[in-house]
Amino acid sequence: MTVSSVAELLKSDLFLQEVAVKGWVRTFRSNRFIALNDGSTINNIQCVVDFENTDEELLRRITTGAAVSIKGTLVESQGKGQSVEIQVSELEILGDSNPDEYPIQPKKHSMEFLRENAHLRVRTNTFSAVMRVRSALSFAVHKYFQENGFNYVNTPIITGSDAEGAGEMFRVSTFEANKAPLTEEGEIDYSQDFFGKETNLTVSGQLEAETYAMALGKVYTFGPTFRAENSNTTRHLAEFWMIEPEVAFMDLDGNMDLSEDFIKSVLAYVLENCKDDLAFLDQRFAKEESQKPQAQRSEMGLLEKLRFVVDNNFKRVSYTEAIDILRNSKPNKKKKFQFPINEWGADLQSEHERFLVEKHFKCPVILFDYPASIKAFYMRLNDDGKTVRAMDVLFPGIGEIVGGSQREERLDVLKEKINAMGIEEKELWWYLDLRKFGTAVHSGFGLGFERLVQFATGMGNIRDVIPFPRTPQNAEF
Ligand code: 4AD
Ligand code: MG
Repeated sequence: MTVSSVAELLKSDLFLQEVAVKGWVRTFRSNRFIALNDGSTINNIQCVVDFENTDEELLRRITTGAAVSIKGTLVESQGKGQSVEIQVSELEILGDSNPDEYPIQPKKHSMEFLRENAHLRVRTNTFSAVMRVRSALSFAVHKYFQENGFNYVNTPIITGSDAEGAGEMFRVSTFEANKAPLTEEGEIDYSQDFFGKETNLTVSGQLEAETYAMALGKVYTFGPTFRAENSNTTRHLAEFWMIEPEVAFMDLDGNMDLSEDFIKSVLAYVLENCKDDLAFLDQRFAKEESQKPQAQRSEMGLLEKLRFVVDNNFKRVSYTEAIDILRNSKPNKKKKFQFPINEWGADLQSEHERFLVEKHFKCPVILFDYPASIKAFYMRLNDDGKTVRAMDVLFPGIGEIVGGSQREERLDVLKEKINAMGIEEKELWWYLDLRKFGTAVHSGFGLGFERLVQFATGMGNIRDVIPFPRTPQNAEF
């Protein structure tokens, strides 16, 4: 007899047939009803044990968390909210779970407690739903690009370049403890690092992706990135996954179109393919929101928000227009912004981004043409000499979900910017080569995958949408 998944059985019409299934016990009620889950769906299948004819010792071993193998007859269920159940004829305990020790009890646990038990939290409804949606989203990412003529490129994890020029990098070291070479001043000589070179974990695959776009035309990366920023927020991780498309002969308008089409497409995919998980997460989101003060509550439910994003145009606004709006606004009647915007050129804080998206435009916003002084060196300078062809996509409840730009393709301008930012030309010789040999307009962006998963699942904290979050406190697993 083939072993079926719970998802298959719940959809099947094999009434009165013998079936086999394996999974973990979620609950065991009245010495009779097992709620069995195998991870294939958010739903459990009810397995009814003939307790009068079952050994007492065996009954005692059917505990929350135990792994079991079940054979029985599939019948129509009498119970509410389920179509079928299994009348158990054979039950084998594959792995016991001591109820006095098992941390995941059938009750509500705090998120903090579950984060400490990251190895077991995926056995809860919330985390299994989130991780299935995450998996479907990554499939949708590859599907979108592969169907649209992009090549998947793997950019290095260990690199000598600081793509963002922000200096928030983890060093990679081959030094043995206490044996690091020292400079004349007695400090660790990192220039000797990694077999004689200074290296770090990548903060972005963009610069390398650019080299591939200038040969393959349309490429994308989808890999881990690392930021050694000590920010304890609900939107930052030290290790996160980034998706970075890069396209030759595409300008900033094309880049905005691509980001909007891409995001809508992957969200439409999960709306269509993760219905049960999203229905569960929609209810969870509604419950969480109802516990917040009125002013902070989301105006839309989770599913409603997802459909809204898929069905409506993103608003495109220049940085300069946004600054005018922010100068003339208050986040609410009584309060000012914590960081008031006083002048053109100021960097936007997340309170400003969220105001624009959630209160002013009430839809996703693409901000473009930022001041050159607050953006990275590689962005294309506009004719005004003070703004660059940058774009950020801002999302309700999230803030910045995408950062991208048209790249500076003119060798002389790029060299000038590199020099002005104090970067040595020889460090980027290969990047400058792209501007020497067959240079062309090209653009791309980076989307933080966890922020996308957060939006799709309605989870409030980014630590709860990645299996093993790396944050300043947590790198145990
Ligand atoms: O805006 P960022 O820093 O842009 C880049 O790295 C560009 N090189 C991308 C490109 O043009 N190819 O990062 C891009 C996105 C952000 O919009 C955000 O969604 C996400 O990456 N991100 C983070 N996500 C989680 N934790 C962090 N610490 C993040 N930092 C950035
Ligand atoms: Mg950014």
